Amino acid sequence: MRLRNLKNKDELVSNCTYLINNSLKNKWDEEFQNKNPIHLEIGMGKGDFIYNMALKYPNINFIGIEKYTGVVARAIKKHPQKLNNLRIMNIDAFNLEEYFGKEIEVIYLNFSDPWPKKRQAKRRLTSEVFLNIYDKIFKDTAIIKMKTDNIGLFASSIVSLSNYGYKFVDVNLDLASSDIPNVLTEYESKFREENIKINYFLAKK
Ligand SMILES: C[S@@+](CC[C@H](N)C(=O)[O-])C[C@H]1O[C@@H](n2cnc3c(N)ncnc32)[C@H](O)[C@@H]1O
Repeated sequence: MRLRNLKNKDELVSNCTYLINNSLKNKWDEEFQNKNPIHLEIGMGKGDFIYNMALKYPNINFIGIEKYTGVVARAIKKHPQKLNNLRIMNIDAFNLEEYFGKEIEVIYLNFSDPWPKKRQAKRRLTSEVFLNIYDKIFKDTAIIKMKTDNIGLFASSIVSLSNYGYKFVDVNLDLASSDIPNVLTEYESKFREENIKINYFLAKK
């Protein structure tokens, strides 16, 4: 995600009341003050999806993570209001184990970076490297929901999850034309305007 530099980026991040800086591993129920399910979006970008999911589903707790501080600052600027069931973190998915115990019920991967070259395959958020990490933070049943315009990433993710023991509950090659409940991400809104079809799956293990 390429962005112009945001001048007050550090101020936005340090003043944000729903950004978590420290590890709340095994303490997320205390943070949310309830035992509702916790869903995690990896690579939330400017936060449109996670913020609107939190508004739409008040009985689910949502956490969005994003590795770039500049992008997190944009998300905060766009969505300044604190919601009881939403927290965000400026962390890399590679370090999820430091921040979560077995507390997560669903992981969303929305328009993840495709890393198309073979030598980059391990960096894909659906590579075995990351599936191993997700195993450590899923509560019991693992659920991954993916949306992408990129058919190469979609196909390689299906192979990777399938080899890892995931079963596919739903696979769709044109999400917009389906009746699958959906909340748009920022990228998805742009793709829709250009009539680009979105691939979707829901996989369980
Ligand atoms: C292509 S953008 C999509 C943003 C948003 N999900 C959407 O659909 O509008 C992918 C985002 O994932 C973030 N990202 C990529 N790898 C990540 C990682 N390992 N941990 C956290 N965020 C990551 C990128 O910085 C970028 O903001």
